[in-house]
Amino acid sequence: MPRTPTPVARVLVVPSFRDWVSKILFHAAAVCALALYTIAAHAQLAEPTELVDQQHCMFCHTSDAPFLAPSFHQIAERYRDKPNASTLLEDKLRHGGKAHWGDMAMPLPDDRGGPLSAEDARTLVQWVLSQ
Ligand code: HEC
Repeated sequence: MPRTPTPVARVLVVPSFRDWVSKILFHAAAVCALALYTIAAHAQLAEPTELVDQQHCMFCHTSDAPFLAPSFHQIAERYRDKPNASTLLEDKLRHGGKAHWGDMAMPLPDDRGGPLSAEDARTLVQWVLSQ
């Protein structure tokens, strides 16, 4: 005996309704993707803990309260829209430079715990700028 479709199944075979459902699903998926993208774009990067400890960054900095040094939040704010910020800061972390915040300059890597490779400087700066 042929099975009669259930009412829901019958509705789903009506083409215009199927179209409508697929449009809704498509929009829902697009909205979700956009939301995920927005969250990802603003997410703070994971702390590179080993590097941060080795270089004693948290000895002078905190994430959000200025202490002996500007907070990483303040630094991120200041440099967020500067196109060459990460190159500039990576160079400063590795080789030092003029003080940008006050009279106290940041100590050089050797005084912070050891030499810092370009790659590690990049990791640290990306992390600071994501805060
Ligand atoms: C001994 C204290 C001290 C330590 C340790 C330290 N900083 Fe700093 N940092 C400072 C001070 C002071 C300033 C402000 C210097 C200035 O006026 O440019 C600064 C500034 C900065 C800036 C902004 C530089 C600029 O030119 O605007 C960044 C980025 C930064 N620190 C990241 C780090 C990171 C990452 C670490 C760990 C690798 C670290 N700091 C370790 C004291 C420290």
